[in-house]
Amino acid sequence: MIKTNYLIIGSGVAGLTFAIKIADRFPNRKITIITKSNEDESNTKYAQGGIAIVTDKTEDSYKKHIDDTLICGDGLCDSSVVEMVVTEGPKRLKELIEWGAKFDKNTKGNFDLGKEGGHSQNRVVHHKDQTGHEIERAILAQVHQKENITVLDHHFALDLITQNNFCFGAYALDEKTKKIITFKSDFTVLATGGIGHLYGHTTNPVIATGDGIAMAFRANASIKDMEFIQFHPTALYDSSAGSKFLISEAVRGFGAYLRTKKGHRFMLDYDSRGELASRDIVSQSIDLELKKSGDDCVYLDCTHLDLDVFIKHFPMIYERCKSIGIDIAKDWIPVIPAQHYLCGGIMVDKNGKTTAANLFACGECSQTGLHGANRLASNSLLEALVYSDKIYNYLANISIGNSQFNGIISNWESVEKPEINSDYLAKMKTELQLLMRQNAGIVRYDSDLPKAKEQLLHWQNEMEEIGKTHQISVAFYELLNMITIGNLIVQQSIERKENRGGFMKVKATGSN
Ligand code: FAD
Ligand code: SIN
Repeated sequence: MIKTNYLIIGSGVAGLTFAIKIADRFPNRKITIITKSNEDESNTKYAQGGIAIVTDKTEDSYKKHIDDTLICGDGLCDSSVVEMVVTEGPKRLKELIEWGAKFDKNTKGNFDLGKEGGHSQNRVVHHKDQTGHEIERAILAQVHQKENITVLDHHFALDLITQNNFCFGAYALDEKTKKIITFKSDFTVLATGGIGHLYGHTTNPVIATGDGIAMAFRANASIKDMEFIQFHPTALYDSSAGSKFLISEAVRGFGAYLRTKKGHRFMLDYDSRGELASRDIVSQSIDLELKKSGDDCVYLDCTHLDLDVFIKHFPMIYERCKSIGIDIAKDWIPVIPAQHYLCGGIMVDKNGKTTAANLFACGECSQTGLHGANRLASNSLLEALVYSDKIYNYLANISIGNSQFNGIISNWESVEKPEINSDYLAKMKTELQLLMRQNAGIVRYDSDLPKAKEQLLHWQNEMEEIGKTHQISVAFYELLNMITIGNLIVQQSIERKENRGGFMKVKATGSN
């Protein structure tokens, strides 16, 4: 058993920034970060556009950022949370800069502010088109300097340890030794990120399998707003399954047009903001256009833009397109919507507290009330920064050692059992991803959701039975977790009666 004061599960922006602060505040306390892959692997690392923050109050204001967030959330945001997050943005940015993260400046020495869908002003602070990579680099470097932080990579958290609705740590599989370790902690923070691989076609890296949300659900914590899945309008089209390369919304903010194969600039038919309507509207419009035309993708036209300035802003996107034979000065980029972000998750209050005692959550796995029915672009990194700070501030004044635990934490039962057939797991994963794309995508069909639910429950039972008689593995647990998340999404989609933001349900039979 490993005893720690603070157990942080996840090493993206949410988990790491909390770790840095609590480590500074309590140099004599022990902080343990467990993370399932390499320490930098996370959705954070792939963030492109940047962080939405009001830095220039001559054109912009908190009020404008708040209003844009509320409009985008389509009536379901918690306005007090929106105000809190937006107004704390500048302080959190200052910290990132103090920790060494670099953001682009213009010739006047001010932040070079990008624009994205749903924003009435240019307000997105960025590092070229690799903002997440830069943030992850800087905060990991800080973490490495703290003697009281231990980072355990390739440690996969399996389940939380709870008693009477109190959380006392978690079990995790050390992938190198294949041993299951018991982590006993005073406080546990879930910062496990998104769910993209439940859909297969996603901008997320393979780590995004909703583990933290599934664990919290099994521990009886409240999970909310799971029906609000955000599909990014412009993932680079390719016919294969798996993670898709993102073409940042900032490219449309820079002036790119969306066109059908025949060349029609269709977004103006749907919204007066054209390509810069909010993400839900753009993705739904592309979905309609593709259903009308039967085409595989639509196109992003950058041919009218200044190539040199484009390359300066979006070097990674330019190079990626070039590597597959797309010359953005002459060719349109084929794009398609792909799962990108989960607006819901583990319900937390304004201190990041879940409904289970001593268990906190922040970042993409949490549901704070900021996003409502649809997240405003570049508000996710901001939310993670603000809420990791909220948890820090709350815990900075809470003493340790008052554990409510009365009993013995038993170690995970480790009996030799046969391994699960990996082909079986891979096949079920492919079927699950297809089921989610067909039934819980951009447009959902009223009559198909109950059938999807039935199949998901069947798979859930099958997996639970297999788990009793076989050696558990990361692949098994990820699949079990994804089925759990699929169930939550489909159930909450059935329960939601009206269409809002990114949620669209129609009364017709779909493809199944
Ligand atoms: P993550 O950064 O995903 O970190 C989760 C961590 O948890 C990882 O370290 C993972 O390995 C670990 N983990 C998960 N499960 C387990 C487990 N069972 N055991 C142990 N460890 C586990 N947002 C913006 O605001 N602006 C942008 O420009 C932007 N661009 C984006 C571009 C892309 C391509 C993507 C995919 C997302 C983008 N987003 C953007 C969204 C944003 O990056 C994420 O929502 C945010 O980074 C999430 O941070 P996080 O710390 O909550 O989770
Ligand atoms: C992007 O760069 O388009 C992603 C921004 C975001 O998800 O907030």
